[in-house]
Amino acid sequence: MVKGFVAFRILLVFVVAVSCVCSEKQECRARCKDGRDGRNGRNGVDGVDGRNGIDGFCGKHGINGTNGIDGKDGRNGKDGKDGRNGKDGKNGRDGRDGKDITRKRNWKECAWDNISDGRDNGLIKTCSFSKSEQSTYLYVQVSSNMRIVNCDACCKRWFITFDGKECTPVAIDGVVYMYKGKGSRYKNLHRPRVIAGHCKINKSGRVNVGFNVGNCRSYPPGDAHTGWNSATRIHIYEMEPPQQ
Ligand SMILES: *[C@@H]1O[C@H](CO)[C@@H](O)[C@H](O)[C@H]1NC(C)=O
Ligand SMILES: *[C@@H]1O[C@H](CO)[C@@H](O)[C@H](O)[C@H]1NC(C)=O
Ligand SMILES: *[C@@H]1O[C@H](CO)[C@@H](O)[C@H](O)[C@H]1NC(C)=O
Repeated sequence: MVKGFVAFRILLVFVVAVSCVCSEKQECRARCKDGRDGRNGRNGVDGVDGRNGIDGFCGKHGINGTNGIDGKDGRNGKDGKDGRNGKDGKNGRDGRDGKDITRKRNWKECAWDNISDGRDNGLIKTCSFSKSEQSTYLYVQVSSNMRIVNCDACCKRWFITFDGKECTPVAIDGVVYMYKGKGSRYKNLHRPRVIAGHCKINKSGRVNVGFNVGNCRSYPPGDAHTGWNSATRIHIYEMEPPQQ
């Protein structure tokens, strides 16, 4: 141990001596032996950051997140189609007793005494009537004295009009015919007669009912006279539609 230490000190002195000699005289370097490696130096300063690397591969899918918060209510939708008809319900209870209904009659009669109208053709009298419903019928009855005189195989016709038109498809009328009535068989027979019938009048409001005289189909006319020395009546009823 002591020996080693002495040797080391001798070596150290020798090395110092040699190094002094060599530092002064370069020529001797060739003769000098290389020294031992020095110790590692200290860590240097950090370098500058490198450039960005290339993008890496895509990662795996992450875990599914939890459900989000419910959104706001949407707007109202459009109306749906009509549904099917439901089944019939059960019968309800009986209702209360109703009031007695009496349909108010609507009628009118126009009457004249002794109109004694000698015309052979045309409108003799009118009676204006106010019809309350469009769907109803009018019943018209005309009574008067009707006559033809002084002719053979002659005919005259009395008939009803509604606003100037006869009832369709069947008119309300009556005819007076005479086979022999002139010369020795002269006849002047004033007689009471009635013509009547129902007619569907497709309107409400004012209807002018007319009593007329004219000619017959297929027969020669004659000398007419209406309402001699007695009453003439135009009687009008408004009637509900008849049974089917
Ligand atoms: C994550 O969500 C996807 C898409 O809805 C679905 O197919 C998958 O099964 C879910 N995974 C899990 C673990 O719930
Ligand atoms: C009836 O009228 C005619 C013609 O106007 C007339 O001549 C006659 O006297 C009248 N008769 C009566 C009873 O009034
Ligand atoms: C009745 O009159 C109305 C118009 O006023 C018409 O539309 C309808 O067809 C008429 N009905 C008949 C059965 O003539």
